[in-house]
Amino acid sequence: MIEVHNLAASYSEKGSKKIVFENLSFEVSSGIPLSVIGPSGCGKTTLLYLLSGLKKPEKGEILFRRERLNGHQREIALVLQHYGLLPWKTVFQNASLGLRIRGFSKKEMKETVLPILQELTIDHLLDRFPNQLSGGEKQRVAIARALALRPSLLLLDEPFSSLDAFTREHLQNLILNICRQRELALVHVTHSIEEAVFLGEKALVMNEGRFDLLSINGVGMAARNSEYRKSDNFHQYCNLLRGHLKR
Ligand SMILES: Nc1ncnc2c1ncn2[C@@H]1O[C@H](COP(=O)(O)OP(=O)(O)OP(=O)(O)O)[C@@H](O)[C@H]1O
Ligand SMILES: [Mg+2]
Repeated sequence: MIEVHNLAASYSEKGSKKIVFENLSFEVSSGIPLSVIGPSGCGKTTLLYLLSGLKKPEKGEILFRRERLNGHQREIALVLQHYGLLPWKTVFQNASLGLRIRGFSKKEMKETVLPILQELTIDHLLDRFPNQLSGGEKQRVAIARALALRPSLLLLDEPFSSLDAFTREHLQNLILNICRQRELALVHVTHSIEEAVFLGEKALVMNEGRFDLLSINGVGMAARNSEYRKSDNFHQYCNLLRGHLKR
């Protein structure tokens, strides 16, 4: 679905250009989720901005469905590291924001958004504002907003980083199910080795300008359950990834 060729990213700061990373190439297909992992500041969020079309590459190119990605693409949804919810809008208004911008009627917004909020078990919070929600609830509203746009590629930036272990595992299962049911391609950034292995079939390790692309497909998406988390297979992939991060 998405092909990345010799990608480089940079920021301009005080008149000079600062390269974040260079020579990055990989592919993402639906059914083969990619986990991106690496130390703080290595460029993971920057990579998601590039993949979403919100930032232009310094060099190289990104192909989406074999065509050069040029600006924002409707089929690509990005969930930001800190949720990106508007504090003055309710859960329903935040979740339907993208649809409103696209000119959907209130009835159409309800028909689209309510089933998604139900699926994410936050449909009882429709009229609450973000400051009345827990971290996990905010995260689910941000995910609902992305899913409402019916994307075919979902980009998640540290989606579950501030959550307790139980909620985190619950949401990981939920995301995998949603990706499977909707045949969504997934790229997610995480600092957690276990999360990278549980959600990803491939891992992109970004480390001081080096990239390693690893296969971590212990079992298919359908078999990623609590038993898989406890299995030797799972722990072996965690150790493989840990070894690459240390290098
Ligand atoms: N708008 C900006 N202008 C200048 N430099 C930036 C800008 N945004 C990010 N950077 C720099 O680019 C580098 C990569 O940032 P990025 O946010 O992609 O890192 P990250 O891997 O997502 O880190 P973290 O794990 O902490 O979220 C960092 O050195 C950061 O300081
Ligand atoms: Mg980041």
